[in-house]
Amino acid sequence: MTNRYDEAYTRSLQDPEGFWGEAADDIHWHKRWDKVFDDSNAPFYRWFVGGKVNTCFNALDRHVDGGRGEQAALIYDSPVTGNTVKTFTYRELRDQVARFAGALRSLGVGPGDRVVIYMPMVPEAIVAMLATARLGAVHSVVFGGFAAGELAGRIDDAQPRVIVSASCGIEVNRVIAYKPLLDGAIELARHKPDACVILQRPQEKAALVDGRDHDWDAVMATAEPADCVPVAATDPLYILYTSGTTGTPKGVVHDNGGHMVALKWSMRNIYDVEPGDVYWAASDVGWVVGHSYIVYGPLLHGCTTILYEGKPVGTPDASAFWRIISEHGVNVLFTAPTAFRAIKREDPDAKLMGRYDLSHFKMLFLAGERTDPDTLAWAESNLGKPVVDHWWQTETAWAIAANCMGLHPFPIKPGSPTKAVPGWDVHVVDADNNEVESGTIGAIVIKLPLPPGALPTLWNADDRFVESYLAEFPGYYKTADAGCIDGDGYIYVMARTDDIINVAGHRLSTGAIEEVLAAHADVAECAVVGVADGIKGQVPIGFLVLKAGVGRSSEDIVAEVVGMVRERIGPVAAFRQAAVVEGLPKTRSGKILRGTMQKIADAEDHKIPPTIDDPTVLDGIEQALMRLGYAGARP
Ligand code: COA
Ligand code: AMP
Repeated sequence: MTNRYDEAYTRSLQDPEGFWGEAADDIHWHKRWDKVFDDSNAPFYRWFVGGKVNTCFNALDRHVDGGRGEQAALIYDSPVTGNTVKTFTYRELRDQVARFAGALRSLGVGPGDRVVIYMPMVPEAIVAMLATARLGAVHSVVFGGFAAGELAGRIDDAQPRVIVSASCGIEVNRVIAYKPLLDGAIELARHKPDACVILQRPQEKAALVDGRDHDWDAVMATAEPADCVPVAATDPLYILYTSGTTGTPKGVVHDNGGHMVALKWSMRNIYDVEPGDVYWAASDVGWVVGHSYIVYGPLLHGCTTILYEGKPVGTPDASAFWRIISEHGVNVLFTAPTAFRAIKREDPDAKLMGRYDLSHFKMLFLAGERTDPDTLAWAESNLGKPVVDHWWQTETAWAIAANCMGLHPFPIKPGSPTKAVPGWDVHVVDADNNEVESGTIGAIVIKLPLPPGALPTLWNADDRFVESYLAEFPGYYKTADAGCIDGDGYIYVMARTDDIINVAGHRLSTGAIEEVLAAHADVAECAVVGVADGIKGQVPIGFLVLKAGVGRSSEDIVAEVVGMVRERIGPVAAFRQAAVVEGLPKTRSGKILRGTMQKIADAEDHKIPPTIDDPTVLDGIEQALMRLGYAGARP
């Protein structure tokens, strides 16, 4: 017997043009497309070719024109600034965005120009994103936890005309000056922006550079509101940099037309929300979850979105999420499992939940990392509402696998994000690109073409796009996740197949951390692996082999490399532990056995690979792990 999910899924693969063409009717087009799908330049597939749109128009103006002007579009809730709560109606947000778009235009920003946004979780970050989209320009938001060097790399790649930033961000108990990081990044970068706009926050004012920096309030006071500029549906809306297998991040591009169609479709069909509902993604605008589900998805759908400048715990305690759900009438919450593990650790019996009225709360969605069955059970039993794990990536912009709650909720199987979402033709293959039997683990791949919303390419790097995603499994997109599909079509995502680790729902490259460690003058060789962590899921730890004759203490060298990672990548790397060892385990051909080291740390069953060059090196690794407190490791 079929259901609405089965029907939608089958149609999305058999008649993608009919399926997505219909979904596209939910979007306002300045000019309708000539072709829903264009494969004339495969593998660079395009959706809605010939169409003209504006994403900001669909997110704001359309709702104001359609009678939603007085509805809350955005609620900013900031416990870290003394419990500030500020609501913007659709009309107010549209007016602010139009004005800031005018300010950007007066600084020279036009269609196709890039604007880098390096901001904390303040409404102005969203205003800047939408204002950029309004002008048909391309934003690139950089997460605030990245250091100057990472920001500089992104500035050089995106070559922004303008950078929008703030004087500071606020973490639980400290103010982080952003401006010195921005100035340092501009100094390091080869590309220099024409101008910067700086939001001065009262917690810490920044010194402005004459002739380059402009005060946010000052430019807003004099700006003329700008209208939406229609752009080609296939023009880029944004670039979001994400960790690749080298230290150079990949500039993932998402376009305007297909991206809007997919996100708008997802709101009702995956998340089961209606216009007017309150939708909260507790993430950061610096991540893809923030782009898709703090900003674009909810606003395209006419929902109220929440911007939360705080943490699940410590601002002030583990009741923060329940307070927000209750005070702002949140219907659907989307966050990462790590947030729930943090809450569970502080309030294991969920006593604080009982203080709040959560009766209007419908569902919790989790993504960013696998939802472990313990966290799933804890959330389900305490909330008494469906808890839905779903799987996606920066590259996809929306879920590849989910329980599509608006189509047909399936029974949940712990450890699985349920089934492939309509549009995604998911397969599991072996190293020779042959489909494996159901239940067998292999590489999870997606048959081309990818649906609307997914990346059409990497910014200025078509070759890298093909090489990173399409070359290894011809005809498929490589997700770089390994897993299996069971006999009922449930997908299980088990591990990455590359050097990416997942730290508190953030994606990090161990290769990038190794590049920093290797730059230390005393380090001859190094390896970084992600080991299991009760709250963050994984954390990176480093192994260092020192150059011959280094007489300095290991403690000093470890402290220095920890400082270097914080300085060069940023606090977000959460790199706190490293150990000096005599040697690294390697195969006879010289490949470092990182997987074996990780399994030893996590006390997982492992076989010593027969190709290992010198098995005695593993004793030193085990002892180092014991010293670092990994009790699972054998002495
Ligand atoms: N600007 C500057 N520094 C930042 C930052 C920002 N925007 N965001 C995080 N940092 C810093 C933190 O202060 C911390 O610094 P520290 O090493 O001095 O303590 C470091 O970066 C690591 O941050 P994080 O990994 O977030 O750890 P945490 O201990 O502060 O918080 C959690 C842990 C689980 C509570 C938090 O990661 C969380 O709420 N995660 C769930 C939501 C989420 O962001 N999901 C992402 C995708 S859905
Ligand atoms: P990011 O691009 O930062 O969103 O990270 C994407 C990666 O996070 C995926 O490739 C997976 O490795 C992991 N991931 C995200 N969501 C899930 C999930 N629900 N289950 C398992 N892994 C996930």
